[in-house]
Amino acid sequence: MKEIYVAGGCFWGVEAFFKQIPGVKQTKVGYANSKIKNPTYEEVCSETTKAVETTSIVYNPKVISLEKLLSFFFRIIDPTAINRQGNDYGSQYRTGIYYVDKSDAPIITAALNALQIKYTKRIVVENKPLENFYDAELYHQEYLQKNPYGYCHVDLNALREDEKKINKPKLYRELISSASALFTDKSHSISVLSNLSAIIKEYFPKVSWVGVYLDNGRELIVGPFQGRVACEIIAYTKGVCGKAFTTKETVIVPDVHEFPGHIACDAGSNSEIVLPLYDASDTLIGVLDLDSYDYDYFDSEDAEYLNHLLTKIKPYIRQGELL
Ligand code: SME
Repeated sequence: MKEIYVAGGCFWGVEAFFKQIPGVKQTKVGYANSKIKNPTYEEVCSETTKAVETTSIVYNPKVISLEKLLSFFFRIIDPTAINRQGNDYGSQYRTGIYYVDKSDAPIITAALNALQIKYTKRIVVENKPLENFYDAELYHQEYLQKNPYGYCHVDLNALREDEKKINKPKLYRELISSASALFTDKSHSISVLSNLSAIIKEYFPKVSWVGVYLDNGRELIVGPFQGRVACEIIAYTKGVCGKAFTTKETVIVPDVHEFPGHIACDAGSNSEIVLPLYDASDTLIGVLDLDSYDYDYFDSEDAEYLNHLLTKIKPYIRQGELL
């Protein structure tokens, strides 16, 4: 993970804007490059601290580059405005990019030089090392999530839908309700697992492969799935699937190339999640495996919803119908 700190006027909107971007793992609002320790909002507003309202961004460079993050940032600021953004005036509302990794400096300089070409007025965005960063008071954190109608000078629609994170909770809720309606006591286990794969693939187009590996008593063998041709057999001791099966734990792999013993059925796959799969009598019968060409595509939210989905379909899976 990497960090960058950006100032673009009132930090409420800047934080809300960056939270929407895939690859942004964590944000925090605070006061950067302050002359005094731990300034309060009131002290910062008095302009005596020289601190600047800043959003700290933790991002995965395998998912989004600094160049790309900066190009999004430039959509929401007036880089020529001095000590002002939107209706906010004062030195705490100046614009800036503050780095903690020195090797980011030339990337920021190049991005600012390229931005200057688009403006006749001189751009005044600071490009400086981060000297200090103090978290803002709790009520400022995720302010617009807590106060959706709060003041915001940032155009949150400056990102196209396809540039934003998908709304996983909403998609999973719909998926789980569709899947629950699909299966009945008459459903055959093979049909259930086949349609389970199909429905996940339908809701999550960025999942490149989804399917099950089933325990035949000696090893795991591939069962119903959607995606490219897959390895037929996986030893209990091998791969992400073997690990999830033997430990009975959900395994999330943000970068499969860093997982020792990962089995690359599809060379394009970059991240993976594997969950233990149980039948109606609570016997461990195999695993559910999802892959994506994106890095870091799955997280604990997926684990939670997929496990919930598996609990819902468990009554319709009977080991005797499978192997
Ligand atoms: N990558 C898996 C093997 C199955 S494929 O992803 C379909 C693993 O390492 O277990």
